[in-house]
Amino acid sequence: MTNYSKYKELLRKIADVQYASAVLNWDQETYMPPKGAEFRAQQLSTLAGIAHELSTTEELGELLEHLKNEDSLTEKEKRNVKESLKKYKDNKKYTTEFVQQLSKTISEAFQSWQKAKSENNFSIFAPYLEKLVKLKRDECCLLGFQTHPYDALLDQYEPEAKTADLEVLFADVRSQLVDFVKQIAAKPQNQESFMFAHYNIQKQWDFGMNLLKQMGYDFDAGRQDISSHPFTTNFSSEDVRVTTRIKENDLNEMIWSCIHEGGHALYEQGLPASEYGLPSGEYISLGIHESQSRLWENNVGRGLSFWKANYKKLNETFPENLKSVSVNDFYKAMNIVKPSLIRTSADELTYHFHVLIRFEIEKALIEGSLEVKDLPGYWNKKYKEYLGIDVPSDAQGVLQDIHWSHGSFGYFPTYSLGSFYAAQFYAFAKKDIPNLESEIENGNMSPLLDWLRLKVHKYGKFNTAKDLCIIITGEKLNFKYFMDYAKIKYSKLYDL
Ligand code: CO
Repeated sequence: MTNYSKYKELLRKIADVQYASAVLNWDQETYMPPKGAEFRAQQLSTLAGIAHELSTTEELGELLEHLKNEDSLTEKEKRNVKESLKKYKDNKKYTTEFVQQLSKTISEAFQSWQKAKSENNFSIFAPYLEKLVKLKRDECCLLGFQTHPYDALLDQYEPEAKTADLEVLFADVRSQLVDFVKQIAAKPQNQESFMFAHYNIQKQWDFGMNLLKQMGYDFDAGRQDISSHPFTTNFSSEDVRVTTRIKENDLNEMIWSCIHEGGHALYEQGLPASEYGLPSGEYISLGIHESQSRLWENNVGRGLSFWKANYKKLNETFPENLKSVSVNDFYKAMNIVKPSLIRTSADELTYHFHVLIRFEIEKALIEGSLEVKDLPGYWNKKYKEYLGIDVPSDAQGVLQDIHWSHGSFGYFPTYSLGSFYAAQFYAFAKKDIPNLESEIENGNMSPLLDWLRLKVHKYGKFNTAKDLCIIITGEKLNFKYFMDYAKIKYSKLYDL
């Protein structure tokens, strides 16, 4: 057996354990009865321990050191070895004590966050968040960084992303998007009340399943279920699960979660099954993953062409609510821009202020220029500054998101990166497929899916996010594409 085959075998074993955890996690979020929680936590923790042991064995380390210098490997194999070696070295940097302390603090922080949120009392969460921030600063030192400690945290979600680059990107968001949203706010608002009429849950479910089929989601390699927070997970590229959430009095919930998670799932289903367990079979970064969900959700799903294909059916399904609503009215209603308090229900423009605020806060906490005790005041000041709104309570403000209680610092920026990559990629999809919009109007999504398969999905992690963007569009991520898309679309919608 060659060294490379041995390496593949070890990596696939690790993947088996991790995907087994993913099945248990999926079950926990969908079907597990309440009493199952305690032992499930134990099972997941055992599997996480096994995966960590397998990922840090001396055998794997030695193998990777040998393979690093093997000239006979193909470019793809070399790239896999490089990725695995980086991951191996990062894993080795954590001491058992640190991992245990972090995991204990996270579980305390999560519980205190839940309590703090339900009682609208930040001071319950504050001491645990302080501990977590301190641990995260330690983690930055442990992992190492060149310029800014936050780089080390970003790298876990968006490999090779740098704080300095994000500062430039978000400076563009500030200087261009804030004014544009102000122009929109000065215009009369469009109608959306019919979105919040009563919509039968079963009929919504059926409609959503059809949307997934139309997008090209393969039901022989996945399934959809209900969960309280929609998500996508996979156990290989041939078993990719999505979940949705349906609200009786809000049609938006089901439609956008189906399309969004569908976009994530198409990426996973498009990764090469032959590369199971290897970097060449994995997604590039969370930003690129999110680019796939956002491209389908916003560039396609919130577009007029998509609803020219689908509105007749929706209208026939819910005549009691939509009889007198035209496709144009519906298009306007799904694209209402309005500053709001809650990130997850924000429109596609003001959404990025929510991310910008979290980015500024995380950076400040990690570099030590902001203290946890000053966080609520700082948060509220920023919401006034960027969104022009007063935050009535910490539950609807600084306590709204789960991420910090999980110790996920560096995650939020990937949401905005996803939308900006999506806009840039979609501009080039339109160039490469001249009749793209008319294909979509006819309900034919396959030219777009084929393009995404060819340009993004099939190479796994062969390229970095930055390189992929240059290969597809000739330049690195540029906020201009998002701004152009926004200006054309919303100038029409709001008669600017
Ligand atoms: Co997503």
